[in-house]
Amino acid sequence: MITIPRETLEIMEDEAREASRNAYAPYSEFPVGAALLAEDGEVYVGCNVENASFGLTVCAERCAVHAAVSDGRGRGDLSALLIYVPGETCHSPCGACRQVLSEFLLPDTPVYSACDTGEIVAWTMDELLPDSFELPVASQPE
Ligand code: THU
Repeated sequence: MITIPRETLEIMEDEAREASRNAYAPYSEFPVGAALLAEDGEVYVGCNVENASFGLTVCAERCAVHAAVSDGRGRGDLSALLIYVPGETCHSPCGACRQVLSEFLLPDTPVYSACDTGEIVAWTMDELLPDSFELPVASQPE
């Protein structure tokens, strides 16, 4: 697994914690924050945004991916993801987010989960979603 410096992880954890405070989660009351690190050190954040039509909810991880892609980042430009959920359990990303993350994170890219115990759990993208569904990319924007 690629190693991320401890100071960078701490920055990501702070950013994800702050993003979780912006979560719109009135139905689940389960706020999630995500921090996605680009290769040049920029950090993109996301939080979960729920909807009264529950299926329209967007998870924090996908929100962060969309922010990075909207800023011109693509597959291979992203070095690590960290999610934060308040409480005593370090949660792993849901299945839908694993599929979306696998589109942009390389198999050995680390994915971290932090909570309030001080522990940080780590996986590689490939550990979270081995044998992910892929299609050949027909064209890449310049
Ligand atoms: N959620 C995330 O933001 N990320 C995940 O990986 C799992 C679930 C959100 C969706 C919903 O707003 C709330 O957590 C409870 O499922």
